[in-house]
Amino acid sequence: MARKFFVGGNFKMNGTIESIKAIVKNLNEAKLDSNVETVIAPPSLYLLLVRDQLRPEIEVAAQNVYDQPNGAFTGEISVSQLKDSNITWTILGHSERRTILRESDEVVSNKTKYAVDNGVGVIWCCGESLEEREAGKTIDVITNQLAALKAKIGNDWSKIVIAYEPIWAIGTGKVATTEQAQEVHAAIRSWLKTNVNDQTAEATRILYGGSVNEKNCKDLSKQPDIDGFLVGGASLKPAFVDIINCNQ
Ligand code: G3P
Repeated sequence: MARKFFVGGNFKMNGTIESIKAIVKNLNEAKLDSNVETVIAPPSLYLLLVRDQLRPEIEVAAQNVYDQPNGAFTGEISVSQLKDSNITWTILGHSERRTILRESDEVVSNKTKYAVDNGVGVIWCCGESLEEREAGKTIDVITNQLAALKAKIGNDWSKIVIAYEPIWAIGTGKVATTEQAQEVHAAIRSWLKTNVNDQTAEATRILYGGSVNEKNCKDLSKQPDIDGFLVGGASLKPAFVDIINCNQ
């Protein structure tokens, strides 16, 4: 079964009403590959604005959610309120939340389970540090993160898209080589086959993230186990359209 190519744009904590309206206008006017599932994740303050103005076939994602029903959780983002706003995805486990905000595997896994159990798809992030890569621990780090997630969600990965984002490639301009990315993506797919099942391994999209741009996306997209991208800085630029259309 062919996996539909998936391109996510993670705006992180960037933008203004004016700049985000300009991004939405550029996407609304662009000719986009209909064989690509495109999701953009603006800062939470702008979710409703983007959903209201963006072409309907592009989906909108939060960058975080809380793992409890609505209530006394000051400052948190509600899954049911996202659904109420036609926001269909969330990013979870981004390395910036794991390192800066100290979100543990347990916290990320609980949030992921709550989101998918309540109808919001999850772009679930994993990745190793430069030190871990240089110590030859990359696959161990990723499979430990996967195991922590599986311990919570079991064998239903149908609403999960995995984003492999080597921390040392995020925001640095040092994109992983096609060989480095393919090696980890293949290891993730192999882990899914062994620890979940063949169907999940075959169906789950595995995205690459970390300094993706319109110049390097074509070679990366040709790798057999790279099913798309999670794009940071380049998603804020007009050339994000070229990344979405990289298979054309
Ligand atoms: O979530 C995507 C992000 O971490 C990648 O950032 O700027 O390296 O594309 P960037």
